[in-house]
Amino acid sequence: MEIHRGLLFLWIATILLLQKSSNVEGRHHVTKKHKKKNASKGSPAYAPSPEGPISQSPNYSPPVPSDPNDPTNSSRNCIFDVTSYGAVGDGETDDTAAFTAAWKAACQVESGIVLAPVDHVFMITSTIFSGPCKPGLVFQVDGVLMPPNGPDCWPKSDSNKQWLVFYRLDQMTFTGTGTIEGNGKDWWELPCKPHRGPNGSTLPGPCNSPALIRFFMSSNLVVSGLRIQNSPQFHMKFDGCEGVLIDKLSISSPKLSPNTDGIHIENTKSVGIYNSVIGNGDDCISIGPGCSNVDIEAVTCGPSHGISIGSLGVHNSRACVSNITVRNAILKDSDNGLRIKTWQGGTGSVTGISFENIQMDNVRNSIIIDQYYCLSKACRNQTSAVYLSDVTYRNIKGTYDVRSPPIHFACSDSVACTNITMSEVELLPYEGVLVDDPFCWNAYGTQETLTIPPIDCLKEGMGHKLAESSLYSC
Ligand SMILES: *[C@@H]1O[C@H](CO)[C@@H](O)[C@H](O)[C@H]1NC(C)=O
Ligand SMILES: *[C@@H]1O[C@H](CO)[C@@H](O)[C@H](O)[C@H]1NC(C)=O
Ligand SMILES: *[C@@H]1O[C@H](CO)[C@@H](O)[C@H](O)[C@H]1NC(C)=O
Ligand SMILES: *[C@@H]1O[C@H](CO)[C@@H](O)[C@H](O)[C@H]1NC(C)=O
Ligand SMILES: *[C@@H]1O[C@H](CO)[C@@H](O)[C@H](O)[C@H]1NC(C)=O
Ligand SMILES: *[C@@H]1O[C@H](CO)[C@@H](O)[C@H](O)[C@H]1NC(C)=O
Repeated sequence: MEIHRGLLFLWIATILLLQKSSNVEGRHHVTKKHKKKNASKGSPAYAPSPEGPISQSPNYSPPVPSDPNDPTNSSRNCIFDVTSYGAVGDGETDDTAAFTAAWKAACQVESGIVLAPVDHVFMITSTIFSGPCKPGLVFQVDGVLMPPNGPDCWPKSDSNKQWLVFYRLDQMTFTGTGTIEGNGKDWWELPCKPHRGPNGSTLPGPCNSPALIRFFMSSNLVVSGLRIQNSPQFHMKFDGCEGVLIDKLSISSPKLSPNTDGIHIENTKSVGIYNSVIGNGDDCISIGPGCSNVDIEAVTCGPSHGISIGSLGVHNSRACVSNITVRNAILKDSDNGLRIKTWQGGTGSVTGISFENIQMDNVRNSIIIDQYYCLSKACRNQTSAVYLSDVTYRNIKGTYDVRSPPIHFACSDSVACTNITMSEVELLPYEGVLVDDPFCWNAYGTQETLTIPPIDCLKEGMGHKLAESSLYSC
């Protein structure tokens, strides 16, 4: 299994590198005008609400390894300002070559800093910033950094699935007081996107759009301080990483922008996501297969589709997710709240999930487990499923959108959910009449306090624990 995964990574890595090398020659000069000439000074307009859980320290400074103005510190030589490598930063010129040159230089020294300075708007095309590099590398954006504006300006020779890619790095930091502007609007309006075709139709065909920032096969990463907005697709994606600290990010895209997930992680372990504000058109945070030891705290989501574990087990795959904690979060104006979704036919398990101190404000499907996830409504009934156990909902309060029951546990027919704990769950209608028929199917667990709305469908006892079966072990 490990060998197969290794080969898969190697293969993907090779593809990435091939894509890269075939792109170097063929870059276009993108000359489309941008009105935004001035760089943001890092005072996000989308400020966290004062009643939110964000512990905003006014003196927060990003973890830059040295003070560039400290003349006694020789590590000031470690700053590689992209303007010294020919970047213009006028919002029109293609500055890709300058960024890759600055990256190459910084990569070779310990604690090097690639600096995109304030008061500039840098435009670069799809780029893979790859390592290995010396430890302590910092990519610091204090100005604005953005991709070409929409599909028409995207160089045909570039991958349209990703923009900034950080690959094979250890101990790297992505930070700054600036903005990563995704220029996603024209991507969202492609006629292949949901209801964007003629007369509100959805045209068939491939509909690739770039993920804005992607970390791949890297470890000990810090991403902090930045404002990230208007991504064509996912804002930030981590795959095959270990040791990720995300702090004080502001991520925003409009409520109706398709597939603009905030932070997506998969095959990634030991992740902390803290003090961040996310508003977008899809999942606020999504956790895919192969994730464990994930700690999420003091995050505000909204509008969004909530915090989601899944989807898992697609095409009869094995999925393993364990030890996920979400604490002190606010979810508002959201299509889903706390969601676990799995396809029928999968194997593996989701265990040790804890949702604690969550404030809901007008959230549809506030608490939902869906083991019948299916995009086409035509999925066959299957007997295996990803096994769910040890899921805790504690101190979940606020209001729900009455279009769906606020609590919905749809567990597999053949593989029951076991050991669900409910404590201090109190949800009231945002407006309209109380929905008093929460749904449970094949779910076992306990209510430590009376749940509002009351649920009497949760079966007493532990159910039959399946953890020992090889189908569900991880
Ligand atoms: C751009 O920024 C400079 C200095 O920060 C300021 O003087 C100028 O008025 C700004 N221009 C625009 C168009 O906002
Ligand atoms: C210089 O900066 C490095 C990295 O932050 C730090 O470890 C070191 O103590 C500093 N040296 C001086 C003399 O300030
Ligand atoms: C859109 O709808 C209008 C009115 O129903 C119809 O006349 C028109 O042909 C439709 N256009 C397309 C491209 O389907
Ligand atoms: C669960 O994850 C947290 C980090 O979120 C970690 O500190 C803890 O050790 C993990 N627990 C187990 C049993 O692995
Ligand atoms: C799958 O099972 C459900 C519940 O037992 C049943 O209502 C549904 O008709 C079944 N679907 C198919 C395609 O067999
Ligand atoms: C039930 O889940 C809780 C919380 O995850 C855990 O502490 C407890 O050990 C589980 N109980 C059993 C019997 O597995």
